[in-house]
Amino acid sequence: MTETLARRRVLLVIGGGIAAYKALDLIRRLRERGASVCPVLTAGAQEFVTPLAAAALAGERAHTDLFDRAEEADIGHIKLARQADAVVVAPATANLMARMAGGHADDLATTVLLATTLPILIAPAMNVRMWAHPATRRNRATLEGDGVCFVGPNAGRMAEPESGPGRMAEPNEIADALERMLAQAGDARPGLGFLAGRAEAQPRPLAGRRVLVTSGPTHEPIDPVRYIANRSSGRQGHAIAAAAAQAGAAVTLVSGPVAIPDPAGVAVVRVETAREMLAAVEAALPADIAVFAAAVADWRPQSEAGTKKIKKDGSGPAPLPLVENPDILATVSRMNPGRPALVVGFAAETDTVLDHARAKIARKGCDLIVANDVSAEGGVMGGSDNAVHLIHRDGAEESWPRLGKDEVARRLVAHLAELLDS
Ligand code: CTP
Repeated sequence: MTETLARRRVLLVIGGGIAAYKALDLIRRLRERGASVCPVLTAGAQEFVTPLAAAALAGERAHTDLFDRAEEADIGHIKLARQADAVVVAPATANLMARMAGGHADDLATTVLLATTLPILIAPAMNVRMWAHPATRRNRATLEGDGVCFVGPNAGRMAEPESGPGRMAEPNEIADALERMLAQAGDARPGLGFLAGRAEAQPRPLAGRRVLVTSGPTHEPIDPVRYIANRSSGRQGHAIAAAAAQAGAAVTLVSGPVAIPDPAGVAVVRVETAREMLAAVEAALPADIAVFAAAVADWRPQSEAGTKKIKKDGSGPAPLPLVENPDILATVSRMNPGRPALVVGFAAETDTVLDHARAKIARKGCDLIVANDVSAEGGVMGGSDNAVHLIHRDGAEESWPRLGKDEVARRLVAHLAELLDS
């Protein structure tokens, strides 16, 4: 369920990065959805966009200075921190995240962020290596622990000739995430820590834990218009991410291209290829539990997709040499140090499901395999329910009846919480 942004007021903190130009488009998108936007620009942001441009798009003044006497008399930073429904930080640079995590209050943006009790959504944007750096990971974990919600970053090409997670989520993705965050917070406006308050009624066996989930297919480009893919809908992986968040975990969902909405309360990293998925997974670690529900393409075309469409020349099909993709599950299972305490794989099989799954658990080095039948008769790929078998590393096995994918997810998450505690 999402909540419309009509008549909502958003305090938009714009950080200093090249993605700041997208924050201007975000102002537009939020206003299109009926929200009013109060922009606050850091000094860094003003190197990329002007307060005038932000003000013109917002239709109200943009704030920049903590020590502006006229402004303090007029509104004051504490009022600024209160008179809204939510705070969005976009782009959140590595530096701004570090200052937030450290509780700094040395400019208007960080002072407002420290003084506010409103729900905060941040859209990180930075270089791939900065996002993957242990310091940024620590800061992210701290902010998640403080109840801050994340959207993105997405994988893909950025300003530098590098690709991987680091690119700011698109303005409409940020607006969607904001709607979900406000829907979750409800009308009580409980502010920071609202996630903890909300879930008091339900058990939170994964409180304080970090969970990583992969979901969906991967797309492996052949040329600019064609790709190799599979029928995965992402429903099972997304349901697991949602169930883990409901169980109190801080969840990162690394998702291939899917047509379903992001689950609530989860940091989503969008990727396209298997190699991007591996990079995003490595950047999202450490985690206590990692669940690999994605249907990763086993192979990709050997040559990089260029900018030109491959043309037929009448002499038969074009040769398409393939190379194997990295095995993400096996890579993470063998990490030392850094292996999550519980590594869970899926096995999508069309025949002799259990035998294949037993072989897979040994080959991949994971703790548990969730096996399902994706043959035409089993018919679960893309469907709404699933009949799974659980195969543990110590040989213990159990089979569950056919259940909705949400119910499979809830039971699996409860099972993983028990395994982690035992
Ligand atoms: N997996 C992965 N990276 C890959 C391939 C698979 O992380 N490159 C993970 C999947 O997310 C799943 C598990 O490995 O958790 C098994 O995936 P599956 O496609 O069933 O197995 P494969 O290793 O591809 O073996 P095969 O296709 O031969 O059955």
